[in-house]
Amino acid sequence: MKEQLELIKQNALAALAAAETPAALEELRVKFLGKKGELTAVLKMMGKLSAEERPVVGQMANAVRAEIETKLEERKTAIHAAVLEAKLAAEAIDVTIPGETVTVGHQHPMNQVLQEIKDIFVGMGYTVVDGPEVEFASYNFTRLNIEEGHPSRDRSDTFYFDSEDEVLLRTQTSSMQIRFMETHKPPLCMLAPGRVFRKDEADATHSPMFHQIEGLVVAENITMGDLKGALITIMNKIYGHNAQVRFRPHHFPFTEPSCEMDMQCHKCHGTGEIDGTVCSTCHGEGWIELLGAGMVHPEVLRNCGIDPDVYSGFAFGIGLERTAMGRLKINDLRLIFDNDVRFLNQF
Ligand code: PHE
Repeated sequence: MKEQLELIKQNALAALAAAETPAALEELRVKFLGKKGELTAVLKMMGKLSAEERPVVGQMANAVRAEIETKLEERKTAIHAAVLEAKLAAEAIDVTIPGETVTVGHQHPMNQVLQEIKDIFVGMGYTVVDGPEVEFASYNFTRLNIEEGHPSRDRSDTFYFDSEDEVLLRTQTSSMQIRFMETHKPPLCMLAPGRVFRKDEADATHSPMFHQIEGLVVAENITMGDLKGALITIMNKIYGHNAQVRFRPHHFPFTEPSCEMDMQCHKCHGTGEIDGTVCSTCHGEGWIELLGAGMVHPEVLRNCGIDPDVYSGFAFGIGLERTAMGRLKINDLRLIFDNDVRFLNQF
């Protein structure tokens, strides 16, 4: 039996020394030390030994078990360390390798200008609001004092959704004047940028979808002077001091009196021509129309439950693309919508 024990010990130690993985170690533990293992099998036969031999063999068996256990622990620690070492080596990060460059986009030039404009108006106390692009004719036209049959309601100009001409793609952000006055009472200062839609052919200054920035101020004693002051202030902030703008009388059903404001063409500087040919940006006008404006019509105030004998106000609708064209010296409106990165990367 002693020889048997010695053999088990030799085999176990050799096998343990050769084991490479935790799973192999576990297999060996079961094989040699487990309940059905080789050592246990030998111990089971101890009953057959004489009384003198039993303690001697018992002691030896215990010593063999202890030795195998020690070796097992030793190998466990070593294999564990090796596994960890391998993992660390495999997952090592070389921080000196240059990183992959990720191309990051930037804000669209039109949004850059919109952000500038919003910042300026927020600084003057305006609240910026958002509204629906699919709109009721009552907000887009009727309550803005635009009567049935008015040319701007024509199906050739407006995208309608229904045969009754009651639901449409808004043709102007002025619908937001009504929506805001419905929910806010004066004094109020509102700015409502957004998309508008008209059946326009696209050319250097027109597109069937474009952006307007509606402004509305209603309080006591608001005058046309306040309107001009606000608009000139903002133009000077956008285009730099002494922005070249002009006001022309105009007509809108929802403002009285009404006007339009033009900016001097940034391409021909107001001359209307470049090297003897008509300027393509302003079609030879020398000026580019930027916005419509005026004093809010008393009927519109009344339509929103505001007493025109107590309150007055002004409103304006700025064309965002054209403002951006002047601000960033872009000569053709269509470039703004083409989204050609060679163009966009310039801003
Ligand atoms: N909504 C008008 C347009 O689209 C512009 C405007 C806005 C005019 C506010 C007066 C007051 O042309």
